[in-house]
Amino acid sequence: MKRKKIIQPDLGTLLSEFNRSLMLIVDKSLLISNFISKIKQIFPVELIYVFLLDESTGKYKLQNPEKDKQGVILTGKNKLINWLAVNEKHLVLSQHPDIFNYFSEEEQSILKQLRTELIYPLKVMNHISGTIFLEKKTDGSEYTEQDISLLSLLFDQAAFALENASLYEKQTDRLRKMYRTDRLATLGELAAGAAHEIRNPLTAIRSTIQYLSKDFGHDPAKSEMINELIIEVERINKIVQGLLSFARPSELNMSEVDVEQLINQTLLLIQTTLSKQQIEVEFEYFAKETIIRADMEQLKQVFLNIMLNAIEAMGNNSPERPRTLIISLEKGTDIDTQNRFLIITFEDSGKGIEDKDLENIFNPFFTTKEEGTGLGLAISYGVINRHEGEIEVKSQSGKGTSIIIKLPQRK
Ligand SMILES: Nc1ncnc2c1ncn2[C@@H]1O[C@H](COP(=O)(O)OP(=O)(O)OP(=O)(O)O)[C@@H](O)[C@H]1O
Ligand SMILES: [Mg+2]
Repeated sequence: MKRKKIIQPDLGTLLSEFNRSLMLIVDKSLLISNFISKIKQIFPVELIYVFLLDESTGKYKLQNPEKDKQGVILTGKNKLINWLAVNEKHLVLSQHPDIFNYFSEEEQSILKQLRTELIYPLKVMNHISGTIFLEKKTDGSEYTEQDISLLSLLFDQAAFALENASLYEKQTDRLRKMYRTDRLATLGELAAGAAHEIRNPLTAIRSTIQYLSKDFGHDPAKSEMINELIIEVERINKIVQGLLSFARPSELNMSEVDVEQLINQTLLLIQTTLSKQQIEVEFEYFAKETIIRADMEQLKQVFLNIMLNAIEAMGNNSPERPRTLIISLEKGTDIDTQNRFLIITFEDSGKGIEDKDLENIFNPFFTTKEEGTGLGLAISYGVINRHEGEIEVKSQSGKGTSIIIKLPQRK
């Protein structure tokens, strides 16, 4: 059997090359995949997993999962991350079965599932920003002290590059949100103006048609034409109503709302469609105490809009592609303000959204559907905004879409 030949250039060259290849990348997932392929060039190891801290939820999410390992997370409250934070050093599991047994059952099962041998903490300032798991070396040898000091150098550089990418991501995110808020506020004013202009003549048209229908009611052909007119006028009226609720929304009628209950109530409304289309609804990490102050009816409308979009997006999935809507409820804390919020995520396995459309989906009248008005998400955006929350989208064309809502949860 031919052994993979591992080329070991001198350490200085290796490090500076490694550094150069990572420092210019600001896209996190690209950074991680580059980093992993570099490590594989240097070390005989196949499975490398990177977990990074999601600051708002305090959970460490696996960044490069294979299909069956999606959603694998570690939490900051658990033993493994704690151990890394206290000890601030790597851990070779086969040499420390006692430490392995100290971890929680869930952590032990993740470690087994990922075939982990070496755990390394990624540190930034004084907190653990992530961790890297490596499996046993494929040539069967143990990790030596020399291996570990080289890996430590590489991993520390990677932690630094990842932190840079995170900061960059945060900054562009902030700018994008500011730009979107501005744009939607301007569109809102325009929309309100247009809706008002249309509403008055529309009322006149509607009553005239009703008046005329009395005269033509006995003639079936004319009566049918009148009916069509009425249907069209109703359609315009619905659009104008939608526009107005986007632009000049009704006051919020705040009360204590249990978000979990409200999600279940909304699901009841679409139960028949879900089962007809064979869509499975799954729940993931459901947080406890999911009560917030909100306008129940308006929030229900938001959930409904989002779920209907998900159903529509999965409608044309080929028979072998699963149709799943995953709903999760997590708690989070803003790292700057310490404000607490609920994060509600709706993830579908539908056709996804093309990159060029991503920034437009909250615009009023943006639709890719023949029968759509393009107001569902615009209205939802308005509702969430008035609750001082945030609504975001993540999507991959051909794979699926996640809509993420953050709502403040005050004590
Ligand atoms: N879950 C999703 N998957 C794929 N595309 C989506 C999803 N949600 C929204 N979109 C895209 O965003 C567009 C705007 O959505 P929005 O709900 O505002 O309007 P619509 O669904 O087209 O019409 P309406 O909701 O008024 O019936 C959609 O036409 C679609 O292209
Ligand atoms: Mg819609």
